[in-house]
Amino acid sequence: MKRLVCYTAFLFALTVNISSCGGNSSNNSSTNMDSTTVKKGTTKISWGQTNGKDVFLYTLTNAKGNQVKISTYGGIVTHWISPDKNGNKNSIVLGFDSLSGYLAKPPYFGALVGRYGNRIGDAQFTLDGKTYKLAANNGKNSLHGGLKGFDKQVWDASVANDSTPALTLNYVSKDGEEGFPGTLKVTVQYSLSDDDELKIEYSAVTDKATPINLTNHSYFNLTGDVSNTILNHTLTIHAANYTPVDTSLITTGEIKAVKGTPFDFTVPEKIGARIGQVTGGYDHNFVLDRKDSSLQQAAVLTDSISGRTLEVFTTEPGLQFYTGNFLDGKFTNHDGKVINQHAALCMETQHFPDSPNKPKFPSCILKPGATYHTVTVYKLSVGK
Ligand code: GLA
Repeated sequence: MKRLVCYTAFLFALTVNISSCGGNSSNNSSTNMDSTTVKKGTTKISWGQTNGKDVFLYTLTNAKGNQVKISTYGGIVTHWISPDKNGNKNSIVLGFDSLSGYLAKPPYFGALVGRYGNRIGDAQFTLDGKTYKLAANNGKNSLHGGLKGFDKQVWDASVANDSTPALTLNYVSKDGEEGFPGTLKVTVQYSLSDDDELKIEYSAVTDKATPINLTNHSYFNLTGDVSNTILNHTLTIHAANYTPVDTSLITTGEIKAVKGTPFDFTVPEKIGARIGQVTGGYDHNFVLDRKDSSLQQAAVLTDSISGRTLEVFTTEPGLQFYTGNFLDGKFTNHDGKVINQHAALCMETQHFPDSPNKPKFPSCILKPGATYHTVTVYKLSVGK
């Protein structure tokens, strides 16, 4: 852990804030704009302004020509473009072509979520004898970092000096922001390998003890076409247990076996096969089977229409599997198609929901002097 403190300090010291390099800040569109090559495999365009800050959209392109686009607003993955089994290219994540789409507050499309991803019950927690009150932005609970979480902040960007196209994002969350204690300095690095691995590496340090749970909220539809639901995708999750929830979707504190339930994805299963037996659809944290905290495979998602497979690897103990239950036709995807219920799914690597109030769950408390460091890799491949 100690060496990671140095690593994070190093990343902060290295950060060259190229976000301030100018560009047309009033234009919200990603079309008809000149892109600047920042480094081989990495380009950027101006993407408008919000919170009084310029926003940029970066494109990482690997040797195969596959691309991931990331906005400095919310650290949002807006596109992940790759060919399907017939060589037709489209994006496997939900998103928009312009910043204005994201300012309309879609439900966390592609975003970096923090300071605490997922829910905190009754929007409060007690740490070292002090009770902290958070915004109740999801019924009586707090969801995804509060009213203005990390997904609605403009992050500083720098391009890593690495042979793999990579983007480093920094954000400093002030002491008391959204009710959380301590100034938290966060670094997230996205990289796209030539093997189509989108790696997300999260680091943070604090000056006061604080809960922390960072994740990415990409919504995947491997067909790249939201007129197909994800109910025909097949999923494996390496989890013999999950954390049941109450009616407000707060974990009850129990850890239950999936065997004999619709939550058993230990062998590949069609998502739609048993979803009708789960009230509201899947929106649950799975307790990953693991012996240590190394990077290991957590889930495998496949789709026969596109021939694509997406593997998820993580160092985290949990995976929130969410089947887009609340998607309701209010938003329209890149390709102009309406995003209806189950048009996409999320696999959010994380600590367990409501950990600050569940002492038996793995601790999510970061203390001064320690460094938070987690890694998640989404690996895409295509067959016949
Ligand atoms: C998470 C939650 C869901 C929902 C979505 C956003 O995945 O678990 O219940 O709130 O975010 O709509």
